[in-house]
Amino acid sequence: MGQSVEIKDVWKSFGGFDAVRSATVKIQAGEFLSLLGPSGSGKSTLLMMVAGFLQPTSGKILIGDEDVTAVPANRRGIGMVFQKYALFPHMTVFENIAFPLKMRKLRRSEIESRVGQALDLVKLRDLGSRLPIQLSGGQQQRVAVARALVFEPPVLLMDEPLGALDKKLREEMQFEIKNLQQSLGVTMVYVTHDQEEALTMSDRVAVMNHGEMQQIADPKTLYREPGSPFVADFVGKMNLIEVTYVDQTASGALLKTAGGNRFSIQNLAVSTPDPERPMKIAARPETIALSRRNETSGTLLEGTIHQCVFMGSMTMVQVIVGPEDEVVYVQTEADASYKPGEVAYLEFDGSRTSLFAHGPDEN
Ligand SMILES: Nc1ncnc2c1ncn2[C@@H]1O[C@H](COP(=O)(O)OP(=O)(O)O)[C@@H](O)[C@H]1O
Ligand SMILES: [Mg+2]
Repeated sequence: MGQSVEIKDVWKSFGGFDAVRSATVKIQAGEFLSLLGPSGSGKSTLLMMVAGFLQPTSGKILIGDEDVTAVPANRRGIGMVFQKYALFPHMTVFENIAFPLKMRKLRRSEIESRVGQALDLVKLRDLGSRLPIQLSGGQQQRVAVARALVFEPPVLLMDEPLGALDKKLREEMQFEIKNLQQSLGVTMVYVTHDQEEALTMSDRVAVMNHGEMQQIADPKTLYREPGSPFVADFVGKMNLIEVTYVDQTASGALLKTAGGNRFSIQNLAVSTPDPERPMKIAARPETIALSRRNETSGTLLEGTIHQCVFMGSMTMVQVIVGPEDEVVYVQTEADASYKPGEVAYLEFDGSRTSLFAHGPDEN
């Protein structure tokens, strides 16, 4: 049922301001792609161009093999769901879902059977005669999803559809939407600023920042091999520590923090070993080992325990390194018993630590 969506070097300027810059991605038929980024990064603007509500300043959009750049929204046959459910308040649930079919002038009997199926699909079979105001937020959003799916669009666009729901309901709906998308085989472009949501739902995620797609990758790659400090920081919890390179030693690359602390990392790939160049290492909390004594032959990064937060299955320890109170997060077993003020040592795993050169214009 799904069709591919190709976005080719698409730009959008408002006045002199580029809200979307050279967006390029080919979304396969039946794929679930998320646009993930902070507020103002251009996600909605890009989605509105795919929908046909906004015209690109330059570039092309193809659905299947057809160039739809100049095709108006109502001829693109795309389903769309917004954060504000945008239901018609004076129409019943049934009439809301029937609306796109009436616009397409389907026969009454056909409309009834299709709306019935759509109601089943979103588990609202018995609520067809209610008005939107008589439904909970989660139910209203299900109606919006049913209305977007009822005419069997090959492509479905959703813009932060779960943003107004509480956490538990949001997580339930994430699974429901993902299941629906998979069972129908519809191509999905899904906008969210919630990295967890993007990682759990998507086949691939395009991370947007300042109107640019910084990285497009499957969730695992995005998490394990972030392509930039921005992606590293935005997706999952990441420690970013400013360092300079000192030397290569028997126990790996010797580095120095901005505060002057020296430490070595075994197996760290350093492509430009230039002591003058400021760099950042990026390490996930679960890849750093914490110990009370340095029992390795290398130089470990010394820090002071700031706080331990018990999180059920593990404990997150905040360790202060350096004179400017930089905090490094380390994930330890749940029973770890570090006390604030204690000295501890951090051991980095070079194969799971990224190194970024960073100039003044990078973050
Ligand atoms: N119609 C518009 N006129 C001027 N600026 C706009 C317009 N729409 C969006 N923008 C700007 O473009 C940028 C991207 O907006 P948007 O796509 O809504 O971001 P996001 O959905 O990622 O939060 C923002 O800086 C926003 O202020
Ligand atoms: Mg938006």
